[in-house]
Amino acid sequence: MSDELLRQVQLHGSVPAHIAIIMDGNGRWARTRALPRPFGHKAGMSAVREVVEGALAAGVEVLTLFAFSQENWQRPAEEIGALMDLLEEYITRETQDLRAQGVAVRFLGDLDRLGPSARAAVDRLMEHTAAGSKLALNICISYGSRAELTRAARLLAAEAAAGRLDPAEIDEEAISRHLYTAAFPDPDLLIRTSGELRLSNFLLWQLAYAEIFVTSVLWPDFTRAHLWEAIRAYQQRERRFGKVSL
Ligand code: IPE
Ligand code: IPE
Ligand code: MG
Repeated sequence: MSDELLRQVQLHGSVPAHIAIIMDGNGRWARTRALPRPFGHKAGMSAVREVVEGALAAGVEVLTLFAFSQENWQRPAEEIGALMDLLEEYITRETQDLRAQGVAVRFLGDLDRLGPSARAAVDRLMEHTAAGSKLALNICISYGSRAELTRAARLLAAEAAAGRLDPAEIDEEAISRHLYTAAFPDPDLLIRTSGELRLSNFLLWQLAYAEIFVTSVLWPDFTRAHLWEAIRAYQQRERRFGKVSL
């Protein structure tokens, strides 16, 4: 059944080069099982493995996952602690496989806010997978889109103040080049799990023309087959970019 889905994805040809995912619903997954929220986050780790492998199989080039937002720092300390522990556990457990699969991992966000141990783990995974050429996996942690845009403005202003940049030359490309995602094309497809219909301060600039796919599936239940379903839905969309249909 899911092999048939993958075959259809591949037959159609236009696989989105870049997929972004808001991985949401871990807390509700735990609540329906009368478990504390961190159990939902732990269960969500297997869904990360699912989408990485599903993206590799489908030929997606860039996968950007929203794992922890700048606003999530306002959650209770125990939940944040559990998430940071899981991040380190994920890195310890997955580094070898990610490397063997040709996945290049990058963490995007204000990494200076991470504790020393999480920061070291994050740096280690980026270093160990840097040569990967099959899939770029961006994991957004301590990430907020407005903060990212504010940082870009600050960087551009500093270049202008130093006389290295003429303000008249600041165009859309210049802004894109100063975002954490500078090395990547904009996402073609945004997936949000758990049914919420909002962006929650994720990639506001980069998602300008992304196709949006919202599923009620909670993140820990999300599988590679769900990813391929979302790609099939994308393949049936008509992207017009403001122009008229052909
Ligand atoms: C997403 O799941 C993971 C993070 C935001 C860290 P949530 O923890 O937001 O789960 P819900 O939305 O409460 O179900
Ligand atoms: C968005 O989910 C952030 C991540 C998935 C990491 P939230 O659960 O934090 O978003 P809101 O609060 O429902 O908008
Ligand atoms: Mg949520």
